[in-house]
Amino acid sequence: MLDAGGQYCHLIARRVRELGVYAEVMPSETPADKLQDRRGIIISGGPASVYEPGSPTVDPEIFSLGVPVLGICYGLQLMAHLIPGGKVTKGIKGEYGLANLKVTEHDKLFDNFQAVSEVWMSHRDRVGEVPEDFVVTATTETCPIAAMANDWRKLYGIQFHPEVVHTQGGKIILGNFLFSIAGCEQDWEPTRHLEELEDEIRCTARGRNVFFFASGGVDSTVAFSLCLKALGKERVHAAYVDTGLMREGETEFVREVFTKMAGDSFEVVDAKNEFLSKLSGVVEPEAKRKIIGEEFVITQQRVLESGRFLDGKWILGQGTIYPDTIESGGTAKAEVIKTHHNRVAGIQTLIEEGRLIEPLAQFYKDEVRQVGRAIGLPDDLLDRHPFPGPGLAIRCLSTAKAEESRKVDSGYVLPVLSVGVQGDSRTYRSTLALEQYTEEAFATATELINQLTDVNRVVALVRGVAPLSDFKSHVSAIDETRLARLRDCDSIVRKLSYDSGFEERIWQFPVVLLPCGVEGKPDSVVLRPIDSVDGMTAKAVPMPAALLEEMTTLLMKVPGIAAVFFDLTNKPPATIEWE
Ligand code: XMP
Repeated sequence: MLDAGGQYCHLIARRVRELGVYAEVMPSETPADKLQDRRGIIISGGPASVYEPGSPTVDPEIFSLGVPVLGICYGLQLMAHLIPGGKVTKGIKGEYGLANLKVTEHDKLFDNFQAVSEVWMSHRDRVGEVPEDFVVTATTETCPIAAMANDWRKLYGIQFHPEVVHTQGGKIILGNFLFSIAGCEQDWEPTRHLEELEDEIRCTARGRNVFFFASGGVDSTVAFSLCLKALGKERVHAAYVDTGLMREGETEFVREVFTKMAGDSFEVVDAKNEFLSKLSGVVEPEAKRKIIGEEFVITQQRVLESGRFLDGKWILGQGTIYPDTIESGGTAKAEVIKTHHNRVAGIQTLIEEGRLIEPLAQFYKDEVRQVGRAIGLPDDLLDRHPFPGPGLAIRCLSTAKAEESRKVDSGYVLPVLSVGVQGDSRTYRSTLALEQYTEEAFATATELINQLTDVNRVVALVRGVAPLSDFKSHVSAIDETRLARLRDCDSIVRKLSYDSGFEERIWQFPVVLLPCGVEGKPDSVVLRPIDSVDGMTAKAVPMPAALLEEMTTLLMKVPGIAAVFFDLTNKPPATIEWE
């Protein structure tokens, strides 16, 4: 997978792996000689235009290697741009959403594919002329060259996205490319490689022991137990840092699971005071993330220096998984949207010194779960929703000044900024609050955001102690009172969504504290249940009315809570977390 900068790159690689073929993401500019032994090359989509200076490109030699190439979206345009005779037309009006694709030339890529089907399009530029010796193989009403091919040279390009679920038969296209064109075998299955994985751990450790900071999350727990299996109890150690930023009951849960697995090779490190005092008064989310990341490293240093882990015998183990790298700009072209806490400076130094082991770095989340099951970890641990390392700190929003809400046609703009993602870039904007929660409002959220330049999210008021016109932000940061407030709300939500079975229907359910309320009740709580396959994109999910009602009633009783809001926004344009 050559990464031309799209969030979709990992999704394509995942789909390829789901089809049983190993795929790796590499920078788009990877020189052709490094790719000549590959079975096939896929060039991903991306937000740029091939005509923009500095936009991602590929080594044109890859088209002469004899290795089959599939260009998707921007990848197709790169092929048309770089292979003689082709031309890309600058788009004036984009084509976003579903389109009817007509296959005009049934080549190998379109084997067993319907003559007319619905495909997902997301592009502005388009191919105006195909390169020499290429034929047009499919069209849509607005895109005359929706696919092109040179069967003889095994070069294929498609404008639509076969990796998204909305494209009918997307998997057929990818399968045709992988199996009948590139001759791949269906031989990738993560659990088939457990022994190799253990060998790799032993090899990377090179006689050294592995130290983990356990978070209780799926990834670090699976990574830890793999190391435990590969190296034995004497050679691994896990410390759980109690940052004071975790949810109700979290520390107890982690203690129980790890003590059962590792006995004395597990310890809890109390760093509550340190984290809280460093975060005091901090508002900006990236600053919070940096502080938390660095405090993790300082704590780690302290634990190491406490004696046992200081010598060169120990290296650091982490549960980093494959997509963790993309939203931090880890692959070549993705813009930094958020700093991942695994990737702050201190950890970077350890990587440079080679004192790091990340046994799951090549796996996607569902593959990690498969590995976890194969090594006997319990389902209630593996099926837990993801929870971010920086914990409740990022969901506890803050503001530096007190401001009034602003009336607009559709509702009120709340004076609190939070992070979103649009067109592959980070945004930091306000939230639009609708005065009433209805299921119909979900459909209009993105449109409302497009109408307002300073907004990246839409919430709806479920219940409040006063009309929205009375709501103000207050000067606020992370402190014990607000954290306890958020922890109480989160605990209510988690219990009810677990008991009602709603939890199983969604991917994640962040609960957020907004510094927006009225005199005496300064904060509000936001419910953010979402559905997703991998966290890269997400859909806001409505809740059963009775459950929402019950939850709201309990949440409104939490001291200091002025309102319950429901987040209606998908990712993009928002992110899953609020911060
Ligand atoms: P966003 O908010 O970027 O979240 O849409 C995508 C997914 O990533 C999780 N997340 C994190 N996980 N450390 C983690 O281990 C982090 O710093 C972090 N930040 C976000 C988030 O919960 C969601 O599942």
